[in-house]
Amino acid sequence: MRALPEHLKGRDFLRIGTWSRADLETVLDLADELKQLQRRREAHELLPGRSLGMIFEKPSTRTRISFEVGIAQLGGFALHLAAHDLQLGRGETIKDTATVLSRYLDAIMIRTFAQADVEELAEHADVPVLNGLTDSAHPCQALADLMTIRERLGTLEGIRLAYVGDGNNVCASLMVGAARFGMSFVAATPAGYEPDPEAVSTARQAAEEAGGTIELVHDPGEAAREAQVLYTDVWASMGQEEEREVRLRDLAGFGIDGDTVAVAAPGALVLHCLPAHYGEEITEDVLYGPQSAVWDQAENRLHAQKALMAL
Ligand code: CP
Ligand code: NVA
Repeated sequence: MRALPEHLKGRDFLRIGTWSRADLETVLDLADELKQLQRRREAHELLPGRSLGMIFEKPSTRTRISFEVGIAQLGGFALHLAAHDLQLGRGETIKDTATVLSRYLDAIMIRTFAQADVEELAEHADVPVLNGLTDSAHPCQALADLMTIRERLGTLEGIRLAYVGDGNNVCASLMVGAARFGMSFVAATPAGYEPDPEAVSTARQAAEEAGGTIELVHDPGEAAREAQVLYTDVWASMGQEEEREVRLRDLAGFGIDGDTVAVAAPGALVLHCLPAHYGEEITEDVLYGPQSAVWDQAENRLHAQKALMAL
């Protein structure tokens, strides 16, 4: 393997919008390389003996396992830290937790509710903090999404991506990431479910710099028409369980089924960050259909996060 660049050492990864296109490209390039090394079962122990603490205040399948297996493949190891098992769950401050964890760990991954808590953790930690999902962002997911699109379509620039559904954390990070790479991004949501205005304004600025576009519409068919990538996510995110019934009603029709695929560009890719709810935001036949890149997308969480940690 060629020597890794040093300039990303120590950087937090809290939001995709705070990273430049060049820095994100460095991550994606290394992710592709690590994927090949892993396929060939060639050792790439770039982080021997290094530790990753993973704080979880919400459940996870992909994020937990991809980080845990990823750091092990790099020669390090992970600690799963359920927030309710930490003193954090009994009122120890984020500041004290960050200060102490920095004495033991080489990096911290956190999945929680408030983005402000992740920012506070990063402010007080002396080691890099990686955002493993908050209510407003899922930047590690966006890395894997961009990696998958680039891998399948050969480029990101100019690709038309339609996100259909709830303008949630996944939508926000994907929108900003897409904008960085000059993609043409359209989100179709019901009124009142649009992505966070701050993320929209970051994305619009990034799109302007990179020559892409950001559109918000309320018609899923209009968004999907001629799209090269179709993307959706759950209608009720973690922490929104009580709103589930209302959301199911409000978001009905804002999903991906055979008709959505039919109006998209021929051979359009279908993506979903998972977990999926069949018959709600996506149909089972599309999820397992020939145009689905969802399983590669899930796999790419591993490679993208390994690159992030190594860098
Ligand atoms: N996509 C994703 O983050 O999945 P998990 O919730 O299983 O980690
Ligand atoms: N929007 C979803 C993504 C899960 C990976 C949630 O926050 O629950």
